[in-house]
Amino acid sequence: MRAETLTAEEAVRDTGWVFDNKTGDVSLESFVASGDDEVRRYLKIFGFPKGSTRDLSMVEIGSGIGRMTAGFTKRFRLVHAADVDAAFLERCRETVFHHGEPTVLRTLHVVDGRTLDLPNASVDLAFSYITLQHCGATDAQSLVSEALRVTKSGGLIALNFRTWTPLDAALVPLGGVVRVLWRAPKVAKHMARVRALTRLGWQANRLSPDDVLAGIGLDLIGSRLRDVTIIHSPRRRVRVSADGVKKLTVRRVHPSHWWLVARLA
Ligand SMILES: C[S@@+](CC[C@H](N)C(=O)[O-])C[C@H]1O[C@@H](n2cnc3c(N)ncnc32)[C@H](O)[C@@H]1O
Repeated sequence: MRAETLTAEEAVRDTGWVFDNKTGDVSLESFVASGDDEVRRYLKIFGFPKGSTRDLSMVEIGSGIGRMTAGFTKRFRLVHAADVDAAFLERCRETVFHHGEPTVLRTLHVVDGRTLDLPNASVDLAFSYITLQHCGATDAQSLVSEALRVTKSGGLIALNFRTWTPLDAALVPLGGVVRVLWRAPKVAKHMARVRALTRLGWQANRLSPDDVLAGIGLDLIGSRLRDVTIIHSPRRRVRVSADGVKKLTVRRVHPSHWWLVARLA
């Protein structure tokens, strides 16, 4: 996707994984500061009081170049940063070295895009943000199952997805076209330089809470999975048909996002 020689800052600028769209020209420092702010905010939303994660381990599925990973390493005993892109993991190590706590970081290459090379019941938190919309729907569902598999009894999963918006009727099919064109190396080389195309190409799926819960197995709700909660913005209605699932609106959640949060029995 990118030349190996890019620095983390260049990768931030040149790839589609830039979230501070307002500036489009963000320094690594401010990129990580935005991640740190979100780590603090989301840990609070998920019910972790300040300082309560110091003895815990976690996996971040789709760490990217470590925007949030740096913040997690300052708060957890052990952080597995997992990503399909080995070059991003390289940058993630660099980011954590400069802005986090490198001694607690382990990187995990998700070679097949769908399985985590971690033992069963080995982490206290499986977390994923702005990632499960960027892989194929079956890979996303597989990563959800993996999150359940690797989380300890009593541990938490907190997984972020994107809802359908009217614009997606165009964005998702166009993203599919871009991904087909990426398969032609000569065309892909030129396309990789156009940030808007990269961003479009990664619009791979929109899974609803009903899709994800059905994929997990509705029989697990209330048995293997406790306190199943869908967190979303008050500005967007989110439909959940499954019984035994709570809905919680949180003002600072992005209107196009929703979260599946649940505790392993
Ligand atoms: C938009 S970035 C989000 C990075 C980070 N979570 C953040 O909020 O800054 C999405 C990341 O997901 C990764 N990704 C996409 N598909 C994946 C998959 N199937 N398995 C693991 N990582 C994946 C990409 O390589 C990219 O680093």
